[in-house]
Amino acid sequence: MENLWGKTAFVTGGASGIGLGIAKCCALEGMNVVVVDMRQSAIDEAMKYFETNNQPAIGINLDVTDRDAYIQAVEQAKAKFGNIHVLVNNAGIGCAGGPLWKVSFKEADLAVKVNLTGVLNGIQIIVPHMLEHGEGGHIVSTASKAALLPVPGTALYNVTKSAVVGIMESLAEDLVGTNVGASAFCPGGYETNLGKSSGEVTAALMGDEKQAPPPAGMANGMPEDWINTFADGCWRARCKGN
Ligand SMILES: NC(=O)c1ccc[n+]([C@@H]2O[C@H](COP(=O)([O-])OP(=O)(O)OC[C@H]3O[C@@H](n4cnc5c(N)ncnc54)[C@H](O)[C@@H]3O)[C@@H](O)[C@H]2O)c1
Repeated sequence: MENLWGKTAFVTGGASGIGLGIAKCCALEGMNVVVVDMRQSAIDEAMKYFETNNQPAIGINLDVTDRDAYIQAVEQAKAKFGNIHVLVNNAGIGCAGGPLWKVSFKEADLAVKVNLTGVLNGIQIIVPHMLEHGEGGHIVSTASKAALLPVPGTALYNVTKSAVVGIMESLAEDLVGTNVGASAFCPGGYETNLGKSSGEVTAALMGDEKQAPPPAGMANGMPEDWINTFADGCWRARCKGN
């Protein structure tokens, strides 16, 4: 997509961290912004920015794993701004750490539900709309550097993010010949609210169930030097044939 002015972006996990950064960039490009998140306090805080800057935006409280609510949220966004042109599938959580055999079924299900089904829901609900309105569009999903390099102790997170890369590569191929594109975004480590928000989202979606703490380094985001150290170590281990 070349001309973003006046078009509409639907950004999940848009009330914090990377998603909020993307939402702000979209607004700076003159787009209408739909900030989608399941933490109302974060939405309220994020909306202050757009109001202060007089930029067209709405906040929608949505858990991306809830398909019926997702369909309604899209209708709400369309009623406000018309067609949606950019979908940013960014909502995600840090998952239970440790080796997979120590992760509970509930923790594994939650990770897949948020980090994978949430992305699928966005594609299945919004791509048909994009193809139908014919004005062009793009879907980008936030995966992770952890999708490309195996970081020890974060197998559950890695596998969900690797799957996101696979989905987006296939989607990009399936969309060839249309005016809709698709891509995956694989950031390294950034100080965001991922540790805090993952705890809140996990508590909300798993009720009273206790989840293992996020993997070391993810509690306060994943500092670049932390993940680079692991990534470098993994790469060297692979080169040695380990
Ligand atoms: N921070 C990093 O170092 C890093 C690195 C690589 C990838 N990522 C990915 O980037 C994305 C954004 O994370 P962030 O680091 O900006 O964290 P963040 O906590 O600042 O933002 C994530 C937002 O997603 C929302 N969210 C989570 N589950 C949701 C759900 N089911 N429905 C709706 N909203 C939901 C949270 O409420 C939160 O506001 C995630 O997918 C994360 O896995 C982060």
